[in-house]
Amino acid sequence: LQNVPLFQDLSAAELESIAPLFVERKYKKGTIMFFEGDAGDEFFLIQSGVVKVYRIDNAKEIILALFRDGDFFGEMALIQKGLKRSATAETLEACSMFTLVRSEFYHFLERSPKLCLRLVETTMERLRKANEQIYDLTFLDVRTRTIKVIFRLSEEHGVVKPNGTLINMKLTHQQLANLVGTVRESVTKVLQELQEDQIISIDKKYILIQDPSALHQLAF
Ligand code: CMP
Repeated sequence: LQNVPLFQDLSAAELESIAPLFVERKYKKGTIMFFEGDAGDEFFLIQSGVVKVYRIDNAKEIILALFRDGDFFGEMALIQKGLKRSATAETLEACSMFTLVRSEFYHFLERSPKLCLRLVETTMERLRKANEQIYDLTFLDVRTRTIKVIFRLSEEHGVVKPNGTLINMKLTHQQLANLVGTVRESVTKVLQELQEDQIISIDKKYILIQDPSALHQLAF
């Protein structure tokens, strides 16, 4: 728990008191952890793996966020008493999680102002990203949105390699389309163009940004 950003300000003693309250759970790839509209009484912290949080309308899907080790989710239905899960959560890879029930989550928030501040800070960060998503969906064309999504993924999940920045997450064209808010065919076209221009290359669903500055220039 020491490496989890949410807990970074807690003392060793505070960490020791919270650690035994978490229950470790393993999930296979493709497991739906909860559906939008479900009643929620658990908070999730990812130890390993990737989770997508999304909303669906008539088989069309928009991904609101991708979470990985160190990230938490499921806090909204716990804090907003009487409200349901605001989105569906599904594992994109096999995951190991720590979960905390509502009463324990509350217990800790009430006792730790530092934890509350970190939670607010992360919420602000997520609101900022949501604002960006609203802006992009309203004002930008599909090509620019696709490029921005790839750029952001490289910022958030990028690992620097000798030949470029690797997005450390397997993503299908359909999943990218669900992040962009468009159809798969449009994303495939943009990806092909970026590969032809040697800005990116794709190997086994992993995207390598060969020319980050060219990608940045196209995105902004
Ligand atoms: P909850 O509503 O309990 O269940 C779905 C979770 O997804 C939610 O809590 C948040 O943790 C997370 N979530 C919902 N919307 C967003 C968003 N726009 N950005 C990041 N995370 C979100």
